[in-house]
Amino acid sequence: MINPTEMQQLFRRHLRLCRVHEGERVVVLSQGRRRENYAEAFLYAARDLGARAYHLRLPEGLPTDGTWAVGASELAHNPEAVAALSRADLVIDCVFLLFSPAQMAIQEAGTRVLSAVEPIELLARLFPTPEHRERVEAGAELLAKASTLRFTNPHGTDVTYRLGAYPTITEYGYTDQPGRWDHWPAAFVFTGGADDGVDGEIVLGPGDALLPQNTYVSGPVRFRIERGFITDIRGGLDAELIRSYMESFRDPRGYGMSHVGWGLDERAHWHGLWPPSFPGGMGMELRSVYGNVMFSIGPNNELGGPNDTACHLDIPMRDCSLFLDDEPVVIDGDVVVEEMKPAGSRR
Ligand code: FE2
Repeated sequence: MINPTEMQQLFRRHLRLCRVHEGERVVVLSQGRRRENYAEAFLYAARDLGARAYHLRLPEGLPTDGTWAVGASELAHNPEAVAALSRADLVIDCVFLLFSPAQMAIQEAGTRVLSAVEPIELLARLFPTPEHRERVEAGAELLAKASTLRFTNPHGTDVTYRLGAYPTITEYGYTDQPGRWDHWPAAFVFTGGADDGVDGEIVLGPGDALLPQNTYVSGPVRFRIERGFITDIRGGLDAELIRSYMESFRDPRGYGMSHVGWGLDERAHWHGLWPPSFPGGMGMELRSVYGNVMFSIGPNNELGGPNDTACHLDIPMRDCSLFLDDEPVVIDGDVVVEEMKPAGSRR
């Protein structure tokens, strides 16, 4: 267990990575009674570094339809709060605004945004480092100049994304650049294919993970993808569950292909540590697992695209091979580009 003093020290170290300094304006955003202890620890950590910090607390949201767009609706009806957040240098988001219009407006004002919602043990264990940032940025450099991304796996996946339409996004767990968002913890890179530019087949194998379901599939689940949309999902119970989940949104745009990329944190585990079940929280550990390939279904508005469907699945996969313009980046679940490997394992 991490006590309140240790939490404050951990957050102070993190805010130093975010370059919080004397005179900066830091707002901690929370909602209802959730993560009150995070909000408090961030406040004092920020003040400790000389920042002018305050806490903005939203009322608990009305019951929703249970989708992932948590928190967004409260800010959507609260322009005064959005205006206040936009005047900050750094917003610590303990709500999880996701890619809501409110968050986009705050970032456009030049405010950097850090999401911190995962369990404290995970924040501590996957504490961000400049070295991970460098490796994620090395990946982003390769991804940004590629015109195709193809990935395969032993179960029959062979899918190609036509790139170039959308920017490349890095997540390495902290933010020190104006207007930049990040999510603690994280170490991965992604982009999206052109709206009509994803074709092929993705076949999930046993142990591939579904987020936000927070389950492993026993596989196989076979997705056929044509011109950027899923046209067929086949398999056993797993496929049935995915299909019925997606159908429940009654939105054809929910079948669009969203972001794709790979994970780079060698400290992240595929399995839960304690309790030994599924990794906790909202799955940032699985998204970050070194050498995973994660593809996503649904919206691409986070990349600047037109699809803002509420149907969203992130699916980290194991044992994949990923190629940029036919050059290998990940082979059988292992990163093969030197600049992206942990310092200790480079040749
Ligand atoms: Fe996603």
